[in-house]
Amino acid sequence: MFGDTGSDELTLVKLGGSLITDKTQPFTPRPAVLARLAAEIHEALDTTGPLVIGHGSGSFGHVAAARYRTHEGLVGPDSVRGWAEVHDAAARLNRIVVGALLEADVPAVSVPPSAGCVAVNRRITRWELAPLRRLLDAGLVPVPYGDVVPDGAQGCAIASTEELFWYLSTAFPVRRVIMVGRVDGVLRGDGQLVQTLTANGFEELRENLVGAAGVDVTGGMLQKVEYLLALAARGVPGLILNGNVPGRLRDALLGEDVTGTVIRQTSTDA
Ligand code: IPE
Repeated sequence: MFGDTGSDELTLVKLGGSLITDKTQPFTPRPAVLARLAAEIHEALDTTGPLVIGHGSGSFGHVAAARYRTHEGLVGPDSVRGWAEVHDAAARLNRIVVGALLEADVPAVSVPPSAGCVAVNRRITRWELAPLRRLLDAGLVPVPYGDVVPDGAQGCAIASTEELFWYLSTAFPVRRVIMVGRVDGVLRGDGQLVQTLTANGFEELRENLVGAAGVDVTGGMLQKVEYLLALAARGVPGLILNGNVPGRLRDALLGEDVTGTVIRQTSTDA
């Protein structure tokens, strides 16, 4: 299915919620963008090796999550209702994403974190990964997504796609993580693209990082970079790129150098 890459290492791709939805309009997907990204993934499938496509929630889950403060847990009488509504919103977008991938002939299968993960204090502590592993073995493309998960300390929590990827990196060898958003990468205060980011370089940039536009309960660009630095510290390189530019995701998946921010452990590692 995946061609002869000679590697079992996973490639993890996140399609950002602000890229695949219109964050200014509740429940509004961007079908043309999704169709193009799905086609780009299809074009690269023979060379990527095993692939997991995660995605954010954008204007689907974030609005209800902010209303019910779902990220803070079971905080009031409406929290249980909120949990269900946020999951429903996230799952609805997931059907749309999986539909677009199937339409582009990517053998995608939904993997709902709400049914397989548990967290404690917003960190996933367990994820039943046997089904996902079997899907990969069979040549399918699992599609998990930012979702509500049971949390042993606060009742429920939002597990972002970044948190899911972090957990996956503890369970599988991961070749790299690609975050597809709607900006070219990490931008300095003067708007210049940071081409390579390491833990050392990050401290001076931190204050300049711009937060997410629109409603976002999971932290925007700053949190994304922190997760990618944590992954890099374990030897998994990350890449943030702009999915609004046609071909960029495809080229990155094909192993070409593309405009974006590479996140590495040190500035000299491969
Ligand atoms: C958020 O997931 C999940 C919910 C609010 C239900 P992510 O953090 O991965 O999503 P985006 O990219 O910010 O939308």
